[in-house]
Amino acid sequence: MSLQGKKIILGITGGIAAYKMNFLVRDLLKSGAEVKIVMTKSATDFVSALTLSTLSKNKVYTNFYDENKTWNNHVELALWADLMLIAPCTANTLAKISSGICDNFLMAVYMSAKCPVVIAPAMDLDMYAHPTVIRNLQTAESFGHQIIPAEFGELASGLVGQGRLAEPSTILSVLEKQFSDAESFSGKKFLITAGPTYENIDPVRFIGNHSSGKMGFDLAKEAARRGAEVILISGPSAEKIAAKNITLLHVTSAQEMFDEVFQYYEIVDVAIMSAAVADYAPKVKATEKIKKNESELTIELIKNKDILGTMGEKKSKQFLVGFALETQNEEQNAKEKLIRKNLDMIVLNSLRDEGAGFANTTNKIKIFTPAEERSFSLKSKEAVAKDILDFIEEKL
Ligand code: PMT
Repeated sequence: MSLQGKKIILGITGGIAAYKMNFLVRDLLKSGAEVKIVMTKSATDFVSALTLSTLSKNKVYTNFYDENKTWNNHVELALWADLMLIAPCTANTLAKISSGICDNFLMAVYMSAKCPVVIAPAMDLDMYAHPTVIRNLQTAESFGHQIIPAEFGELASGLVGQGRLAEPSTILSVLEKQFSDAESFSGKKFLITAGPTYENIDPVRFIGNHSSGKMGFDLAKEAARRGAEVILISGPSAEKIAAKNITLLHVTSAQEMFDEVFQYYEIVDVAIMSAAVADYAPKVKATEKIKKNESELTIELIKNKDILGTMGEKKSKQFLVGFALETQNEEQNAKEKLIRKNLDMIVLNSLRDEGAGFANTTNKIKIFTPAEERSFSLKSKEAVAKDILDFIEEKL
């Protein structure tokens, strides 16, 4: 595996392991990558910007402006990159990442980056075990960043324990994997649903639910990042998406979602139904606004078509994934839906778990197939989307 043509920003912070970056930069260039380096001021105390500039064959950035007072554009640099690696990452920079403190050029580049971010921490063993570092690593992970854990061994303090920066060869393989992931669904077509459905009562009112669409949009982004061609069918949502291999189709009601899904179902390899579809719709949709004359109003509801159930009935080559949003008897209900709707896999999220389900930016899931089950911790929806797609990748 090579990194031919990949553009990498290496952010170096002030730790003794910074010297290892000389070797990593050499290996990255050998592997075909183009590397631009950003150093914090304290990193320059440990390793020379001149050495790194010579090895990377590029200018090294240490501040918002150079000695001749020309401005370094952090946004342009961040958008140039296919990946940003922060190594070694000190406890200090990790804390800034987790809380958004932007007080140096490296942090400004990091906060402007849209590419995947990989963080390789290094510090003394007690610092690495400190609750704040553990929490900040979890926070960084919840942002969707990949962490390369520090290794066990002799540390600069003379102590022995976990805290050593991962070896350059390990960091290189992690970066190669990041890029190979980007092609893992290449040639595959995905159909993903997202968001709520709105069932009109009259021209101004509807029956809906709290789905924001984020879970489905994050799944679409991650599938597209891995090379899939994605058809994303979304109910009303404020989420935005822009990628050349995603086609976004807007619908409002469950019936419209049903119609749109079956325009494409036959041609897709994987279908993931994360939309929160209304089970019932008003039997009659009033053509004029209903006036508030009576003290009570009864709206008769009729059952909507079960989109996922119908997909299960018509399944041929598709790998079919359903979601289950439950409030009680979660596992039993999810497993029952898995079988009844003829699914290959179901993702359970429970409203009883704090931070899971609707509208949150986080989710906590459990995956079931007819043969196995796997639990995941509370994570950002971006990270949950990665877990779901890793699982699907294993099964395909
Ligand atoms: O959008 P977010 O705010 O990010 O929130 C994400 C989410 C909570 C909406 C999402 O993670 C989720 O759980 N989606 C499924 C919600 C749901 O409708 O669950 P359900 O258990 O009622 O339905 C089971 C499955 O059948 C779902 O895959 C659903 O898409 C599908 N279904 C349901 C009814 C229907 N008429 N047709 C369907 O296809």
